[in-house]
Amino acid sequence: MAVLSHFQARIALEARTEGITHVNFSFDLGRNTQQVELVEKGIMLPNGKILKWAGLAEIANSRSSCFIMDDGEPRAIHIYSEETDRIYSLYPTQGAPTMLVSGIPMHRIKGTEPHQDTLEKVRAIKPVVGQVLDTATGLGYTAIEAARTAEYVTTIELDPAVLDLCRQNPWSQELFDNPNINQLIGGSFEVVSAMESARFTRVIHDPPVFSLAGDLYSSEFYGELYRVMRNRAKLFHYIGDPESKSGRSMTAGVIRRLEGVGFGQVRRVPKAYGVVAVKEIGQRLKGSK
Ligand SMILES: C[S@@+](CC[C@H](N)C(=O)[O-])C[C@H]1O[C@@H](n2cnc3c(N)ncnc32)[C@H](O)[C@@H]1O
Repeated sequence: MAVLSHFQARIALEARTEGITHVNFSFDLGRNTQQVELVEKGIMLPNGKILKWAGLAEIANSRSSCFIMDDGEPRAIHIYSEETDRIYSLYPTQGAPTMLVSGIPMHRIKGTEPHQDTLEKVRAIKPVVGQVLDTATGLGYTAIEAARTAEYVTTIELDPAVLDLCRQNPWSQELFDNPNINQLIGGSFEVVSAMESARFTRVIHDPPVFSLAGDLYSSEFYGELYRVMRNRAKLFHYIGDPESKSGRSMTAGVIRRLEGVGFGQVRRVPKAYGVVAVKEIGQRLKGSK
């Protein structure tokens, strides 16, 4: 089974137009490439099946979907969740795809791409060591990246349909293969509230936009994050474009609320579109003398 977007389909169609018979081609949205043969009916798969030209032309004409294809018709990757009444789909980029939640991209794609976006988020709290909490799994990119250096990553996703989407995304596979990533299903507010105190050394908080999950921007939730963090643990909180009007006011509100529940060293990280904060029990006590 191949997972393709217009980026891959166009390579094959252009090669065919030029009369080329062998090209380097990716069957997993650009993660890996291999040489394939272009035959009269389409692309010859390693298992002998053929991805037909008509299907590839359909994919090449669709700029906003990723597709699963074998020797039949291509099928766009999207899922409707009855649980949340949201539609999730994979939106292609040159590299890792992003996820659209009811049309809203869950990663930065303007002037960057989801993998780079993920690296900025994770680097903001480097070194990423010890026990990591990832409050919003999404496509699992932050959890996967954190798990490269951390001891253990616990990641929480509200909607099981998102994990079904992950299963179809080649860039999310480590979420299922890495034994150091523990997936929890539920609302982060409720799940984190039930966790033991002082457990995590790093927290990555990458929530959906405020309109989709306002509780994840509340003082009550920040207080719960503070509680489950160890002393000197670091939090990265993604917020959005700090140059936009809404991003600016949202950032100011987030900083005020983080400081209000006890976080110290709260600083903007414009490159990562978010803020970093540290749990400093000693500092807090000194300051209160
Ligand atoms: C911005 S995406 C996270 C992207 C992720 N960090 C990644 O690297 O792919 C936000 C995710 O949070 C999920 N979500 C929404 N509300 C939530 C909640 N209350 N608790 C946990 N996850 C939630 C959404 O379904 C979505 O998958």
